[in-house]
Amino acid sequence: TGWKEVVFSLARDVERTVMPLFGKPEGGKEVGKNVSGDVTKYVDRVAEDIVVERLKPLGINIVSEEIGLIDQGSDLTAVVDPIDGSYNFSSGIPVFALSFALFKGKRPVYSAIYEFLPGNYYEAIPGHGAYLNGRGIHVVPREPEKAAISFYTLGRGLGIIGRVKRIRVLGAIAVEMAYLARGSLQAVVDLRNYVRPTDVLAGTLLVREAGGIVVDESGKEFNPPLSAEEKVNIIASSDERLLKIILEGI
Ligand code: IPD
Ligand code: CA
Ligand code: CA
Repeated sequence: TGWKEVVFSLARDVERTVMPLFGKPEGGKEVGKNVSGDVTKYVDRVAEDIVVERLKPLGINIVSEEIGLIDQGSDLTAVVDPIDGSYNFSSGIPVFALSFALFKGKRPVYSAIYEFLPGNYYEAIPGHGAYLNGRGIHVVPREPEKAAISFYTLGRGLGIIGRVKRIRVLGAIAVEMAYLARGSLQAVVDLRNYVRPTDVLAGTLLVREAGGIVVDESGKEFNPPLSAEEKVNIIASSDERLLKIILEGI
């Protein structure tokens, strides 16, 4: 299967349907609770319906943020967040994306993040690299004191803020991981025990294929289950030196 064609056309389909709701209160209306206990907004529901309708006929398993697992007995599993950054979306903040990661068993085979408003399609192919709109991308390490990082915390590790130059917390972690992969940020850290694998699995493969490092809070390889429910902490960095400062600071 040409996964790029499948995922890109899926992303464009979602885009066509949801963009008329961008910045409108209607899109932010609460329509239920998802499998991780978080609220499902109207836009989340609409976007996920398209994802499921498109992927189900392929016979693959689907793990999606709101409904969780649809087990079709396949060896392939797509882990999807139809809209990462739905608060941003419904509030008119233009930072949100579709996040898609495909696994064969537990092994990643393809991932993509589609950032709707700039129309940026990021993708990663294991062993082949990371791409933005078809061109190779790579992390860009900086001296820690010149680094820009995204740092989600409820108070833990606050000293890290004084060790870097810029903090940018954008509210869509899939997008932030894509920015790390392309060199716009040097790290993405979330220590709230709040994000789920659906938020970060596509970004994890993308960052790794772009030459970055993704670990858990103990510094071990980040390797969460293919789940929409588990809550995880994550540290993604462009390089070892910055990673060390972050790990020492938490
Ligand atoms: C959210 C975004 C955000 C993160 C939240 C997530 P959602 O995803 O990834 O960056 O801080 O924890 O819930 O709910 O907009 O898909
Ligand atoms: Ca999300
Ligand atoms: Ca979402």
